[in-house]
Amino acid sequence: MNIEAAVKGRRSIRKFLNKDISPEVIRDILEAARWSPSWGNTQSWNFHVITGESLVRFKEANQRLLIDDTPSTPDIPMPESWPDACRLRYNDMGRRLYDSLGIARRDTDARRKLRIKMAYLFDAPCLIVPTIHKDNAVEYAMLDIGLIVQTLCLLAHGQGLGTLIMAAAVQYPDLIREIASIPEDRRIVVGIALGYPDLAHEINNFERKRAHLDEFVHWVG
Ligand SMILES: Cc1cc2nc3c(=O)[nH]c(=O)nc-3n(C[C@H](O)[C@H](O)[C@H](O)COP(=O)(O)O)c2cc1C
Repeated sequence: MNIEAAVKGRRSIRKFLNKDISPEVIRDILEAARWSPSWGNTQSWNFHVITGESLVRFKEANQRLLIDDTPSTPDIPMPESWPDACRLRYNDMGRRLYDSLGIARRDTDARRKLRIKMAYLFDAPCLIVPTIHKDNAVEYAMLDIGLIVQTLCLLAHGQGLGTLIMAAAVQYPDLIREIASIPEDRRIVVGIALGYPDLAHEINNFERKRAHLDEFVHWVG
């Protein structure tokens, strides 16, 4: 697969097949992803790969915390507000997601059920959790994490796997910390659900939009 095809062909996957991934495939993806760039080659990331019984335990407990309306305490604060253009895109994306499942805007019950499925990682058989040392959870190191996360998602796509980068997976970091034995001094940045995509499912097929270049590129000279 060429690079442009990989970049344009990747999409967020929100329904996974009930099929395990061989550890070698996950290892191959991480093996290649480690060639991502980072500030001064610091490579300050750690990755925790959670599968099997440990993942089932996580998914069940994560879902339970959500159902019980437990207040979330993410290590990396969620944005409190968006600039107008971003908010509009965020809302548009949500509408497309719900529309794909025929969920009406006012159907709070169906929306909640979707959030509950999300807390179960849409049945993904693997969760990869990048962490960073607490003293290094600064903007540039976060940029490094973003670079390797996208690299990983593209490599997974190249292997026929699907990914979903998930803030929703790390809303209860103490749970992940306990299950994956993550030291107290590491910040859990985000989760990446990984698995074989259910390509026929509506939720994996809705049209996504992107801003036109005119909206965000400023040519100089
Ligand atoms: C940092 C980050 C956090 C995200 N968290 C979630 C999430 O919790 N739930 C979800 O369904 N999608 C999540 N996404 C996926 C975005 O919604 C998705 O990337 C965006 O809508 C663009 O769609 P695409 O990935 O299909 O191109 C997240 C993406 C990023 C980069």
